[in-house]
Amino acid sequence: MNYKELVCKCKKVTYEDIDNVVKSENNISDVVKVFEDVQKQTQCSTGCGGCHDKIMDFIADVLYQR
Ligand code: FES
Repeated sequence: MNYKELVCKCKKVTYEDIDNVVKSENNISDVVKVFEDVQKQTQCSTGCGGCHDKIMDFIADVLYQR
């Protein structure tokens, strides 16, 4: 995967941006909560919403690797 690639085109958010927020999370037991924090900090998935599932999958992958 190319971390510099935009996952959210509406808000110009890359996989790397999301990765950075996820890695700063302390509570990683709740994927939905992590997603909300990512959304707050990057504004991702606040436009058309079309990226939502891709972002959720990516967050789950990052958390699983920890
Ligand atoms: S692509 Fe992310 S909100 Fe539209």
